[in-house]
Amino acid sequence: MRGTVARLVLALVAAGCGRGDRAAVHTGSPARFGFGRAATTADVSAWDIDVTPDGTGLPPGKGTVPQGAAIYARKCAACHGPTGTEGPSDRLVGREPREGFPFGRDPRFVRTVGNYWPYATTLYDYVNRAMPFDKPGSLTPDEVYGLVAFLLWRNEIVADTTVINAHTLPQVVMPAHDRFVPDNRRGGPEIH
Ligand code: HEC
Repeated sequence: MRGTVARLVLALVAAGCGRGDRAAVHTGSPARFGFGRAATTADVSAWDIDVTPDGTGLPPGKGTVPQGAAIYARKCAACHGPTGTEGPSDRLVGREPREGFPFGRDPRFVRTVGNYWPYATTLYDYVNRAMPFDKPGSLTPDEVYGLVAFLLWRNEIVADTTVINAHTLPQVVMPAHDRFVPDNRRGGPEIH
């Protein structure tokens, strides 16, 4: 079924592309279409920004809680509230429930960085790639490290004197780390 759909889509694309060049439809695609250019190393590195749970991909730089607090007030508070709890956008700060995991059953508990995120390094990756929501990609590494320090401190995870950098961030153990388990079930329905 999936193969049939793929073949159908391919046939439609081929028909569309070949409108001005019937021969190409029958002999296969040309080696080059004559537009675009090869990606440069700079092009690729601009997109290559992922940070993995173990901290691979974290850039040089550093940030502190006071630095992050100042940036947060200017660039984040309008949407996430002055202390990260007020909204209107996602609540970023909160440790409740401190035990157990009754989200979904108890409407008082909203998922936050402090009670739901299993890896501190994801904060760098996410803020760097997606925030501020209206200007993603505009923050420098030092600004992101500062914001990460501030958010971890607001969530009672690090001290207010902590310096966050590529070395210290992967060592931060998140409160929700053990609230996730690998799904290693076999034999039943599996999601791929
Ligand atoms: C214009 C509004 C806006 C601004 C400004 C903004 N955010 Fe967000 N933020 C959002 C929205 C909307 C989401 C939810 C995005 C989604 O679910 O795809 C979000 C999600 C987040 C999340 C993920 C929350 C979660 O648990 O899923 C974090 C962390 C975050 N923002 C941090 C920041 C930081 C740090 C800044 C400042 C640099 C910032 N945001 C600025 C609107 C904003």
